[in-house]
Order: sequence, then structure tokens, then C-alpha cells
Amino acid sequence: MKLWRKGEGDDLDPLIEAFTVGNDHLLDQRLVPYDCRASTAHAKMLCKIGVLTDEARDALCRTLEQIAALADEDKFPIEQSDEDCHTAIENHLIKELGDVGKTIHTARSRNDQVLTALRLYEKDALGELKQLLETYRTELDDVVHRQGTVPLPGYTHTQRAMPASVAMWAGSFADGAAGDVRQVDHTIEMIDQSPLGSAAGFGVPVLGIDRQMTADILGFAQVMDNPMSAQLSRGKFEAAILGVCAQIMYDLNKLASDLILFNTREFGFVELDERVCTGSSIMPQKKNPDVLELLRAKYHEVLGEEFKIKSLGGNLISGYHRDLQLTKGALFNGIDTTASCLKVVAAVLGGLRFNESTCRAAMTDELYATERAYTLVDQGVPFREAYQQVAAAYRDKGNKGNP
Ligand code: ARG
Repeated sequence: MKLWRKGEGDDLDPLIEAFTVGNDHLLDQRLVPYDCRASTAHAKMLCKIGVLTDEARDALCRTLEQIAALADEDKFPIEQSDEDCHTAIENHLIKELGDVGKTIHTARSRNDQVLTALRLYEKDALGELKQLLETYRTELDDVVHRQGTVPLPGYTHTQRAMPASVAMWAGSFADGAAGDVRQVDHTIEMIDQSPLGSAAGFGVPVLGIDRQMTADILGFAQVMDNPMSAQLSRGKFEAAILGVCAQIMYDLNKLASDLILFNTREFGFVELDERVCTGSSIMPQKKNPDVLELLRAKYHEVLGEEFKIKSLGGNLISGYHRDLQLTKGALFNGIDTTASCLKVVAAVLGGLRFNESTCRAAMTDELYATERAYTLVDQGVPFREAYQQVAAAYRDKGNKGNP
């Protein structure tokens, strides 16, 4: 039963139902526990302002707890005819509690429900991303501990440039991850505002709801006072979250590109663990880095999802529009993809071995040209002159060998 049905004769054409619901009922499965939490806080608030009796509140809270438990065991399916988790939950409350169930939607709209459930989910998801970033950082630190002293050529323009090392290479990604953790924290701080009680986007007249109470119960740092600002944040906050995901993926993309190159026969700087490599169906000798290629590719997938959200939200006038429903799948996919890539990169790093002798053999003389110029500077030669002297020496040697 849809929440908006008013009686006989307003049945929805099945074609239109399938189109408007899309896969939202399936995506909403992950929001069920969050909507139950928000509905519980809402019921407590309705009781406090005198709309519900203590008994009605307790019955609602108990049943919402049961729904969350069912969902936890995958036993709370949302049908297409339910449209979304908000409808499925209200229908269940009415089925179990009759008239008491019919009171839960007082002073709210699915527009603030979806915002609230999403925001609670997002805070959890960002917390998980933070933990995964920490694990990834630990794996990078382990690479440094195991083989940090191994030298590596540093490249600009994919040409040998200056000496680097495994410690410098892995440490750069560890620093990148530390910056991403700070960005995750900033994002959590920004989204940590309760939209509950903004209702359809213009607040709740007459009833005197207590928005601070629900925000406190749900652990939000503050209330989004202006109800229109709550709607304004739909899509915008989700795009910001995927912005952080894309920032994380930016580094993973580069790390994967480095390792793909280092792992070629031509470079031979690294050895990937057998457990992370895949083979070829035709060429028996192959040990392929598919895992790294997909890590690299998934950056583009996350970037695409970020763009999708930013694009979907554009040009709409203020207030809720059904267009925004399509941001949900992009958000979930962007977050899931980033989380799985962080797990995978940690596994790859755990089995990574630099081939020390090949790396040392690659430390050819031209990598030290800048060092030579600075040694001359240290002895009092002006830098441009030192640069020219060293350049000439390399030119004389055909840019090879010791000048
Ligand atoms: N599934 C909808 C969404 O994600 C829930 C809100 C529906 N609101 C409405 N007014 N039709 O946006």
C-alpha cells in the first residue's frame, strides 16, 4: 500500500510504477536500520510533545526494533509496490499495531526521512572508510619497514630524474592517505546536521515539534534549522562524500599505475604475490596484474558517480524533486567501490616485494646529475653555471655513464 494513495481508483499503471520505483526498493534495503533509528527518535519526540501516549511510543519503538532485527537477518524485503523503505516500514507498523502504526508519519515527510536515513548511513560509511584508510596506511608503513632502504629511480615525464627509494615512494602514499583521513573528518563534520523535522522541506506547522531532541537522540552535532537548507543539501553532501572518495581513489589509481609499470618484465622492480595475480586463458606463461588494472579503472568509476550526482542536482529549483532519487545508487556505488579498493590495495601491498638487485642496477648515473650540480654550488659555483657544466659533461658522454 502506497503512502500517498487516497482511495479507490488511484491505482498506478504497473509500467509507471516500475519506472518511478526503479531499483530504489532494492537500494533502500541498506537504509532500513537507519530509518528505524530515525523513526524511533521521531516516535519518542512525538510522545514528548503529547502527540503519542507512552504506550503508543513503546509499541512503535519495540516494533521498529523488530523490523531492524528482521532486516539484519535479510528478512525484511521491500517490494516494488512498497516503493521505498519508508513505506515498507510504515506498512509493517500498521500491520502490527493498527491505529498506533498510523500515527508514526505525523510531522514528517519521506523527504526528510530519506535525508535523515542517508545521513546516518553516510556517517557510518565515512567512519568505515577512515578505518580502511588506516589499514592501508599500516600496510604502506610495513612496506617501508620491510624494504624502505631499497633505492628506486624517481621519474618525471616517465624519464629517469632523481634518486628516490621505496621509503619515499610508499611514504608518499601514506602521507596522501593521512590527508584523506583529514578530509573524511571534515566531511563528517559538515554533514553532521539533523534534517529530521524539516518534513517536505518547509518545516512542520502547528505541532511544536522538538527537532533538537531528535538530533540529540540520533547523535547529530546540530539541527539544520532552515528546513529548505535541508533539501538544498540533498545531492550536495552526497557529491562532497564522493569527492572524498575520488580523492582517495586518485592516489590508488597512481599507485596502481606505478606498480603495473614496476611489475613489467622490462622494469622488474617489483614482484606481485601469486595470490593477487591472474592468468591468461591462452598464454600459459602469463601472470597478469588485473587487480591493479581494475584498481586504476575504478577511480574513473567513482569519478563518474561523483559527476552523476553533481549533474542530477543541477538546474532543479529549490525543494525536493524525484530526480534526486537517482543520486542514491551513485552514492552507494561510489562508497562501496572505494571501500573495496582500499581493502584490495591493502592485500596487494601485503604481498609486495621489491626486487632489490634490479632496483639497485636501475640507479644509473644520470639520476645523480642534480646532486652533482649542487655539489658545485656548495663549492661556490653559481647554480646556472654549475648546471651548464654538468649538462656539458653529460653531453660529452652521450648522456650516459659517469661524466
Ligand atoms: N525514494 C525517494 C528518494 O530517494 C524517497 C522520497 C520520496 N518523496 C517523494 N516526495 N516522492 O528521493
